[in-house]
Amino acid sequence: MNEHLIDTLLNRRTIRKYSNKIIDDKTIATILEAGIRSSNCGNMQIYSIIVTRDEQRKKELAKFHFNQSMVSEAPVVLTICADVNRFAKWCKKRNAVTDAYSNFLWFNIGTVDATIVTQTMCIAAEAMGLGICYLGTVTYMAKEIADFLKLPKGVIPITTITMGYPAENPLLTERLAVNAVVHNETYKDYTEEDIEQIYGEFEQLPQSVEYVKENQQQNLAQVFTNCRYKKDDSLLFGRNYFKFIKEQGFLDE
Ligand SMILES: Cc1cc2nc3c(=O)[nH]c(=O)nc-3n(C[C@H](O)[C@H](O)[C@H](O)COP(=O)(O)O)c2cc1C
Repeated sequence: MNEHLIDTLLNRRTIRKYSNKIIDDKTIATILEAGIRSSNCGNMQIYSIIVTRDEQRKKELAKFHFNQSMVSEAPVVLTICADVNRFAKWCKKRNAVTDAYSNFLWFNIGTVDATIVTQTMCIAAEAMGLGICYLGTVTYMAKEIADFLKLPKGVIPITTITMGYPAENPLLTERLAVNAVVHNETYKDYTEEDIEQIYGEFEQLPQSVEYVKENQQQNLAQVFTNCRYKKDDSLLFGRNYFKFIKEQGFLDE
């Protein structure tokens, strides 16, 4: 067993502050190669990875991520996209069917491929002492980010990660207990008592209590629904993303 890797996986945390240390080209190449080595659907690699390292472009890109400081401060920002464009171009050139993948199934396949390649890059980076942060804001501002990165039709951003050597060592965040998320053989739906037990433990953590107080809410669930991920925002960003998925040609069939 590779104990170093297991140790990395069990002790990782998101890093949002980065030192000035440059990530050399060889390290970036290794991370990209490790990601690309991942499983992917049919070995078609329905994804593309856009690397942003230029200081000025990172600053501009940060605006589309609601000015989250990681984007301008990290030495490397990766935007990982579902991409049927490249494959369809090859099919066209070889007189194969060109529009087989302009549908929702392939949006999903591209999303899974893009996510797997991303997470493998994250593990590789963390195993080499780097820190990463995922940015969900990429889907909120997908159209604007796609314009900025010059993504053609058939390509849509799925996720973004910032990457750099850590300049912080945050506490390990809590997770639900393993038996709260794992079901044996069939899904065992949660009773009210289960929910009470699973989330009750979370709610009692000192950081949760502090978080509720800071946000002036009555409980932790309300911090999520009233402050962090509001229904109106979800509807707006969800509709925008859906519209853009259509515009990019993923729902043509
Ligand atoms: C899909 C996704 C989107 C995320 N978006 C953001 C983000 O926009 N900003 C941020 O600071 N962290 C973001 N994160 C990081 C999570 O907040 C973090 O993983 C979670 O709080 C658990 O903390 P840990 O990774 O340190 O264990 C995102 C993570 C994922 C997987």
